[in-house]
Amino acid sequence: METESPVLATRILAGVIGDPIAHSLSPKLHGWWLERYRVPGEYAAWRVTAEELGAFLASLPERGIAGVSVTMPHKETIIPHLDFLDEAASMIGAVNTVVVKDGKLYGRNTDVYGFVTHLQEQTKNRDFRGKKAVILGAGGAARAICAGLLGAPLSFRELVIINRTREKAERLKEEIRAGITAMLKRDTGNGQKEISSGVDHFVSEIIIADWEDRENTLKGANLLVNTTSLGMKGHEPLLIDISNLPNNAVVYDIVTNPQETALLQAARARALPAVDGLGMLLHQAAPAFKAWYDPEDRYFSGLPEVTQEMREFVIEGIRI
Ligand code: ATR
Repeated sequence: METESPVLATRILAGVIGDPIAHSLSPKLHGWWLERYRVPGEYAAWRVTAEELGAFLASLPERGIAGVSVTMPHKETIIPHLDFLDEAASMIGAVNTVVVKDGKLYGRNTDVYGFVTHLQEQTKNRDFRGKKAVILGAGGAARAICAGLLGAPLSFRELVIINRTREKAERLKEEIRAGITAMLKRDTGNGQKEISSGVDHFVSEIIIADWEDRENTLKGANLLVNTTSLGMKGHEPLLIDISNLPNNAVVYDIVTNPQETALLQAARARALPAVDGLGMLLHQAAPAFKAWYDPEDRYFSGLPEVTQEMREFVIEGIRI
């Protein structure tokens, strides 16, 4: 009988790069799937400084590394070092996953996928087409979330972006518009129709409101998303009265620590669906795991599963 020799079996290596890296939850969640699917692989955490980034990435193919997760502060500055970008990464201008294939570096952004998948799962595929969303914050996370809200299948029609520093919200709006335009040009250029969201982007409206007006903008909104660091352990609280939200609105907070933020508590007190940030983090990791460790379905078919058991395992890591 032929068995795979443990010496000869190639262990697939991937990991996360960032600076600092000690608090990354990625090793925990990829480690969970490696065990669950019995994949002969490892997932490392590499502290890579901004100065080291280029050389580190260039060394990936020769070191036989399947790819990396990318976290702060490299998500945007990594782009010039990569050979190809996927649709989401080029639209958002940020990469959270690198896949090495045939010696080339492919940059992807799975944050959009993670956000959309978790929102759909938690709202049982509610139809948001043509609806209004309010987004607090205009940083990197807001960019991915806005792309997810405007694109199919969510296809929101109206986005209200509110940020303490208004100019950053204005800049985000321009970036989204530019990203959409570039995407649509490419879309019509090569005739591919896979980006069915193109038409929806055309009819969407992006409005900037002042931080002081945040409570007023909640009227008629179907979704409120906090993408700021407010409410996070060690940060200032997020001060917002959500009583203007309609009775069927969904409240989403990307803060993962604490898991139950004051915003989510306020939503639950009004019996509004409250969606926490951990699901986005878990779901964004799934396509990356598949691409590195099992692109040919040798160990499991489709994407690795995000289960309640896995959530609890990862939450333990947050509490520590
Ligand atoms: P990320 O890229 O992860 O989204 P970020 O770029 O640091 O992180 O963004 C943090 C967000 O929280 C920003 O929108 C920031 O607002 P500013 O652009 O005005 O800095 C927001 N934020 C942080 N502290 C805040 C505070 N005390 N009040 C209001 N907004 C705050």
